[in-house]
Amino acid sequence: MTTETTLYQQLAGEISGLIDGGTLRPGERIPSVRRLSEKKRVSISTVLEAYRILEDRGLVEARPQSGYFVRPRARVLPEPELTRPPAAPSFVGVSRLIDEVLAAARSPRTVPLGAGCPGPELFPAAKLQRILASVSRRKARTLAHYSLAAGNDELRRELSKRSLDWGKALAPEEFVVTNGCMEALNLCLRAAARPGDTIAIESPAYFGVLQIIESHGMKALEIPTHPREGISLDALSMALQTRRVKACVVVPTVNNPLGSIMPEANKKRLVELLAAADVPLMEDDIYGDLTFAEPRPVTAKSFDKKGMVMLCSSFTKILAPGSRVGWVAPGRFQPRVEMEKFINSIATAEVLQMTIAEFMRNGGYDHHLRRLRRIFRDNLVAFTAAIERSFPGETRVTRPEGGFMLWVELPARIDALELHREALRNHIGIAPGPLFSATGRYRNCFRMNCGHPWSRNIELAVWRLGELAKQMLAKG
Ligand SMILES: Cc1ncc(COP(=O)(O)O)c(C=O)c1O
Repeated sequence: MTTETTLYQQLAGEISGLIDGGTLRPGERIPSVRRLSEKKRVSISTVLEAYRILEDRGLVEARPQSGYFVRPRARVLPEPELTRPPAAPSFVGVSRLIDEVLAAARSPRTVPLGAGCPGPELFPAAKLQRILASVSRRKARTLAHYSLAAGNDELRRELSKRSLDWGKALAPEEFVVTNGCMEALNLCLRAAARPGDTIAIESPAYFGVLQIIESHGMKALEIPTHPREGISLDALSMALQTRRVKACVVVPTVNNPLGSIMPEANKKRLVELLAAADVPLMEDDIYGDLTFAEPRPVTAKSFDKKGMVMLCSSFTKILAPGSRVGWVAPGRFQPRVEMEKFINSIATAEVLQMTIAEFMRNGGYDHHLRRLRRIFRDNLVAFTAAIERSFPGETRVTRPEGGFMLWVELPARIDALELHREALRNHIGIAPGPLFSATGRYRNCFRMNCGHPWSRNIELAVWRLGELAKQMLAKG
């Protein structure tokens, strides 16, 4: 990426931030191209490019002879409310639906608004390839022996340094490296619960967790979750008093799919509540570094006094989904998790662990993170504006302060599974709501992946989805 590209995107981001924050109001004139170019000491073409992005996003409009003005928003859609799943646990049966949706969306012709992964061009692939080549040359022997189940020491040292940002310093030995966050969650659940046990989860929940629960013959207890503040602690507390909950899985910082971020006080209470009931918490922090506010919020793990929190994450959303490098800090469950790791996959490819470690040490990890956050923030603004312009009245949409996903709640009469099938015929992928529930809820909701760079093609896809939803509504 050239410096110029960074500059105009940065500029567009700054102005959209002023519009979002209300400093620049609808109808107000934004600085003239010449003035901004002088003030910011950038070229006229950079400013024009930034204004073109803002125009594409529907944030500003050019008026002949007068300049650029903030566009009145079509409307501001309300947010979804606290969810209300059933109060009883149930066995899970979502795997077939998930397979169907993921398989159908895999075609290269499909606009990928369904999968939960940023666009491939946003990952630092060239730098990682160079590091991988150099590591393979320098440490050729790593391919010729088995590595430790717990993981490579260099990577665990880098994770230990990073843990200061999460509110709790963890020693290198406290980490177990895994094949992605998915394996981390899987190992933790196996270490903490058995078939038939009840696992408390957020509702809606990441479908991978539902699949793990399903595959182990466990039951899911869906807990009401708020789109901004996350899992309802009152509901969880009640569940802990009335049910035998064996473990709890939560994504407290930028939940998937809601994008909710639990306030610090709630994280503390969550840990205390569960510790008092002797229930381990699997904290999935895979999006934790992608909050828009800096510094990032602390983890629930930072309040853990009894070793009951198993903190799980990976580099798949930030650096390289294909590396499959993830990790867990399993607290008091560490011996069991290490054993489960060995049984499951013996170890994680060490050459990839060393590549990630080197990137964290010298690859500009923080710079890369800041860039990603900025792009995702702008993307969410652009997607939300596009939804506001094209979706039916009564649509609700989340307002996440991190990550790259939106949760869209359509009028109750629209069936998201039908919308998903119709969208696929139009070569657009979405993730329909029932994927995220053990009990087939959220029939009128879907998750939209906003992690791809905003483009005309994507704008058209969002508009088309809105049209399809309106047609389905009209048909009744
Ligand atoms: C909340 C959450 N946890 C875990 C995973 C799985 O991550 P990984 O690809 O690192 O296994 C995902 C992937 O979408 C996710 O969204």
